[in-house]
Amino acid sequence: MSGIVGYTGGQSAYPVLLSGLKKLEYRGYDSAGMALLCPKELKIAKTMGKISILEKMIGGDGYLQGLAGIGHIRWATHGAPSDINAHPHLDCSQKFAIVHNGIIENYLNLRRWLEERGHRFISETDSEVLAHLIEHFFDGDLFRAVANTVEKVEGSFAMAAIYDGEKEKLVCARRDCPLIIGLGEGENFVASDVPAFLDHTRRAYILENGEIAVVTADAVEIYTSRGEIRTKKVDEITWNAAEAEKEGYPHFMIKEIMEQPQALRRTMQGRLGGPGGGFALPELNLTPEEIGAIEQIYIIACGTSYHAGLVAKYTMERILKIPVEVDLASEFCYREPLLDKNMLFIVISQSGETADTLAALRLARKKGKRVLAITNIVGSSVAREADNVFFTWAGPEIAVASTKAYLTQLSSLYLITYYLAQEKGSLSGAELGEAGNAMLNLPDLVETILARTDEIQKMAAYLAPWESCFYIGRNIDYAVALEGALKLEEISYVHAEAYASGELKHGTLALVTEGIPVVALVTQRAIIEKSLSNIKEIKARGGHVFCFAQEGEATDEFQREVDGLFRIPATLDILMPILSVIPLQLLAYHTAIARGCPVDNPRNLTKSVTVE
Ligand code: F6R
Repeated sequence: MSGIVGYTGGQSAYPVLLSGLKKLEYRGYDSAGMALLCPKELKIAKTMGKISILEKMIGGDGYLQGLAGIGHIRWATHGAPSDINAHPHLDCSQKFAIVHNGIIENYLNLRRWLEERGHRFISETDSEVLAHLIEHFFDGDLFRAVANTVEKVEGSFAMAAIYDGEKEKLVCARRDCPLIIGLGEGENFVASDVPAFLDHTRRAYILENGEIAVVTADAVEIYTSRGEIRTKKVDEITWNAAEAEKEGYPHFMIKEIMEQPQALRRTMQGRLGGPGGGFALPELNLTPEEIGAIEQIYIIACGTSYHAGLVAKYTMERILKIPVEVDLASEFCYREPLLDKNMLFIVISQSGETADTLAALRLARKKGKRVLAITNIVGSSVAREADNVFFTWAGPEIAVASTKAYLTQLSSLYLITYYLAQEKGSLSGAELGEAGNAMLNLPDLVETILARTDEIQKMAAYLAPWESCFYIGRNIDYAVALEGALKLEEISYVHAEAYASGELKHGTLALVTEGIPVVALVTQRAIIEKSLSNIKEIKARGGHVFCFAQEGEATDEFQREVDGLFRIPATLDILMPILSVIPLQLLAYHTAIARGCPVDNPRNLTKSVTVE
């Protein structure tokens, strides 16, 4: 995934674009570039590497005179990261510059077609065809050239184009990749995501697939690809700019971990414990008859969102007494899934732009399923294409490793589960009341865990020098162990295997050697004895066990058996995943810090994966 910014107005465009790019750095960061419409010429600067390298390259008044321009940060797909492959790309005449996010599937055919007409390509990217197509179609009107260009393109794109002959105009288009126009006074902005312009304006147009925007300092006109003008509603962005920045924390990840109590409250607000009491989720748009008819639930997602789905498998089955299937989006699309008529089909995606999840959503819809999406991003592709949307309201998540988004996905899934239980009559009024109260109390309990960082730091100090470790748990603890292990791996680069506790003895126990760190989750009262015997198996082989246990009668016994114990405050067993994941997030964070890793931008990863 890459990031696009654009600006036109009364200010020097360079600093505006630069700060916009920095806010989008989470989208991808192998190269960066900018093109500015300066009075005498179109000036372009681009480089492989961080934005700071670009900043050093761009100096001098020449660049500062441009009042309009476009910028880009790239996460390589077609063509390795390099100065030449960095965006913006130019046409042969060097009068047109484009930036692009997405994948042009027919670029080889287009490139051949353009080369036959004399165009010369210098990069290995798919994106460069856009600049040459615009040059080919240009007849004095940049809008028409862009409209004709996108007509030829198969695949996904968000793009912005400028022309040296029109010093204040940007023309932008999108299909399946996000693009938002920020509306200022005498200035306008273009970006892949809102934080890029939030310092300047909160008013925005969210472009829809197929729309093309002509943006000047004083006007934004939006057209269909056939050239018909569109009237659009202005969206008011409700986040504040500070929410998208670090607010004094050293990393976005720890800021986002610390924001979880607030994020949880937001997810539940208006949905639980309102004036009528109980659970109220009108956004599901399900009639009592439709709810009564649900006989199975199918959940699709990737990565951390998939782990949220795995927790839901245990909790939904326990509460609703109906089977729940959870599948990886990348697998779902390539087998022959059996989708029953009376099935509730759910996709989960923080970004709402994950290509695999989007493909699964489309496949399910094609097979006639009505899709409910759980997502964090309003205006995202998943949110727009699903039949119904349940927003998690986590607020912007910038760190690549997902924390608050995961927690709000979990609480969304609990809300949905209890709401269905309420409507189906699977739980009594007293049970629902108990669950609702326990849920409302969770943000306070999360706060108490977050205040105990020092206990986790001691564990992280032990873990940091190791290259390998295990996470174990039974039942929902296993689903949380998977998420804890993924978190550790992606940001600290320690190899972490998560196992169902009972499964270790079927092979992996052979890898337990003297001192190896093992993180054991024990939060489910009904299976405490079984979990304890698994821990003893590991201790007997010299493993160093850190145990995360629900506070209760048995915790003192654990204390004697293990090398480190974190007491998780008590709640209903079924809600424990909301609490038990918090110390695991902190453990991953502090281990990564102790190992000197770039926590927010781990190698090889990007925040939103828009390729299959
Ligand atoms: C890990 C992480 C990823 C994402 C996955 C799906 O911390 O963030 O595993 O969960 O790429 O992303 P979304 O939820 O945006 O579809």
